[in-house]
Amino acid sequence: MPDNIYLPELARVVHIKEEVAGERSIKTFRIEPVNGEAFAHECGQCAMLSIFGRGEMMISIASSPLIKEYKQFSIMRVGRVSAAFHELQVGDVIGIRGPYGNSFPVDDWRGKNLFFIGGGCGLAPIWPVITTAVAQRDYFKKITVFYGGRSPRDIMYRAELEKLRGDVDLQLSVDKTEDGWNGYCGFVPANVMDKAPSADNAIAITCGPPIMIKFVIQNLHQLGFADEHIFTTIENKMKCGLGKCGRCNVGKDYVCTKGPVYSWAQLKGLPEEY
Ligand SMILES: Cc1cc2nc3c(=O)[nH]c(=O)nc-3n(C[C@H](O)[C@H](O)[C@H](O)COP(=O)(O)OP(=O)(O)OC[C@H]3O[C@@H](n4cnc5c(N)ncnc54)[C@H](O)[C@@H]3O)c2cc1C
Ligand code: FES
Repeated sequence: MPDNIYLPELARVVHIKEEVAGERSIKTFRIEPVNGEAFAHECGQCAMLSIFGRGEMMISIASSPLIKEYKQFSIMRVGRVSAAFHELQVGDVIGIRGPYGNSFPVDDWRGKNLFFIGGGCGLAPIWPVITTAVAQRDYFKKITVFYGGRSPRDIMYRAELEKLRGDVDLQLSVDKTEDGWNGYCGFVPANVMDKAPSADNAIAITCGPPIMIKFVIQNLHQLGFADEHIFTTIENKMKCGLGKCGRCNVGKDYVCTKGPVYSWAQLKGLPEEY
């Protein structure tokens, strides 16, 4: 434990990829520690990333814990700090502290069918779980990934997703079609209903815009999924990430320490502030 728990480690940006262009563009950054080894993390955990003089923000670690050399983060440009990240170049040095929060209970899901349901930037927090499950393919039964963007240009990790075919049943969708798109056209919850996955021996993991999650959960209930077999993450605004400032609380839970991963059964027990 460092003397000052707010003090970040230094990390160098080693790779930058533009995933989605436009007003709310998304870029994926790979970073490596400047000194020593990177901290270990689990699927679903986050880190506080900072640019000196610009500020810091909580971001999901979007790479599998099995990858030791670098950590990956996909950042949507929404405001001051995220815009500063979008100006970074390979070689720049940033600050990182973490890992924070709880994790997906991936080991408990061995022997089960896994359904991942993501929308927009919501693929990033569940990407470590998807890639870890694929790397440990024999431990799980069928793996299905539903993922949708507004248009084909809004599908993030496109090439990486295509590489998963064969190991996973990949169900991509777009809200609005364009020339050359052969996949499903419609919202993610509708695609889930269209394919109607069986709730038998299955876990559903969903992350995306709140409106998508609301309808995905309704549809999963219709398909027979129990609340304790549905998992999601919540992204309350955070400042310290350490359970000290009270910025992120829902009821008596500090989401930065108790979350961000919750089963739907747990979320139903919390006040609707998330
Ligand atoms: C646990 C957790 C995981 C996250 N993972 C990711 C991720 O993987 N990728 C990613 O791009 N973002 C993620 N976020 C959101 C990210 O932290 C915010 O977008 C970021 O702090 C915005 O900083 P900013 O200075 O650019 O924007 P600001 O200037 O602070 O805000 C710009 C706008 O974004 C809104 N905003 C800021 N934070 C949030 C939030 N947490 N939820 C909803 N609206 C917000 C503000 O109200 C404002 O309207 C995560 C947040 C949490 C709490
Ligand atoms: S962010 Fe400070 S208590 Fe959670």
